[in-house]
Amino acid sequence: MVKNLFMVKSLNSKIKSIKAREILNSRGEPTVEVELKTDDGIFVASVPSGASIGENEAKELRDGGKKYFGKGVLKAVGNINKIIGPRIKGKNPAKQKEIDELMIKLDGTKDKSKLGANAILPVSMAVCRAGAASKDLSLYKYISQIYRGSPPVNLTLMVPTPCFNIINGGTHAGNKLDIQEFMIVPQKKLFSENLRAASEIYQGLKKILKNNFGEQAINVGDEGGFAPPISHASEALNLISQALKNYPDTKIGLDCAASQYWKDKKYQLEGAVFTKEGLLIFYEDLIKKYPIIFLEDPFSENDWQGFQEITKKLSNKIIIVGDDLLCTNPRRIKEAEKKNACRGAIIKPNQIGTITETIEAVKLAKSFNWKIIISHRSGDTCDDFISDLAVGVGADFIKSGAPARGERLAKYNRLLKIEEEIKS
Ligand code: PGA
Ligand code: ZN
Repeated sequence: MVKNLFMVKSLNSKIKSIKAREILNSRGEPTVEVELKTDDGIFVASVPSGASIGENEAKELRDGGKKYFGKGVLKAVGNINKIIGPRIKGKNPAKQKEIDELMIKLDGTKDKSKLGANAILPVSMAVCRAGAASKDLSLYKYISQIYRGSPPVNLTLMVPTPCFNIINGGTHAGNKLDIQEFMIVPQKKLFSENLRAASEIYQGLKKILKNNFGEQAINVGDEGGFAPPISHASEALNLISQALKNYPDTKIGLDCAASQYWKDKKYQLEGAVFTKEGLLIFYEDLIKKYPIIFLEDPFSENDWQGFQEITKKLSNKIIIVGDDLLCTNPRRIKEAEKKNACRGAIIKPNQIGTITETIEAVKLAKSFNWKIIISHRSGDTCDDFISDLAVGVGADFIKSGAPARGERLAKYNRLLKIEEEIKS
């Protein structure tokens, strides 16, 4: 009989051991890494961490106390080694849903605050990698199988359009810009061409900043974008427009992260106080002047009315995207659809805490015909899981910061490899 390797592997693979440890993320703060051993090898995963965190996100468990100013993750590590590990040992890693549901049950809270989303998610990711290996599949192909389900829905494998954050503001930078992210979105056909264009635009912007403001302007923020000493969105957009001179088809995306400038029940930015109507006019002016294709979180996370007004007024021209508004949470996504509050979703696995729930959130948002943007976090690691996730679920866009810094490029470089594989 001819030996069918595929079948032998998928039937026999079992989780043998799981070990977690505390490592540091790109901001130099603790996070969790997991090593999961199966019959097919060792699978490693680590989780990112946000700075502008939505109220409705699954909760990270932090140790408190003096070490790392309270940000240690040894409790989360202990929860993996002592509680989750023993319960999933011996299970088939291809049972993603079953294992994720078991962890949700073990946690027992609505926001994963008992075991910590930073304990549950890295296990979920490592299980997914091990599941893919047990079926001899690339991770993105395996995720696309899970996404399509049974009976399978149609899904064409393609690399999403990347959004590169080249000017940083808000909580990610030591400057006075209130809007958090100024992203360029090249429109070439291939991902590799978009990456090349972004790299050239980024290097061009560096020269422009140096010429205009001197060397201090080329220092970078948390996501690798420049953090020049400017305070108005229009200044940032004018500088980017200069850098786009030879790249006329490139679009711009903004993550306003407006919850950060909702202070004392008012929108306070650029040295002025705005009413909801005033803020909407401010955005309208920007989209008239610059080739903006999406606005993420233009209003504060609980300002449903602000989101509704802007979606009604501008969604025939641009995509209104919810991040803090939705927190990758099906309940919030359903509410936003009911209220017609946005037409696109940022999807961040650590906002919800398991891969199964992340995939469900994408499915739900897509069922409303929304655009999907898979996203990194501002405090990230070199784990490139989200690249495979973005391709596997057929996302429209991916954002992973600037075309610079290791933890940002880990994702983009992985997409280069996936594109090569898909093309061939
Ligand atoms: P965060 O920023 O990771 O600090 O939350 C990213 C974003 O808001 O999209
Ligand atoms: Zn955001």
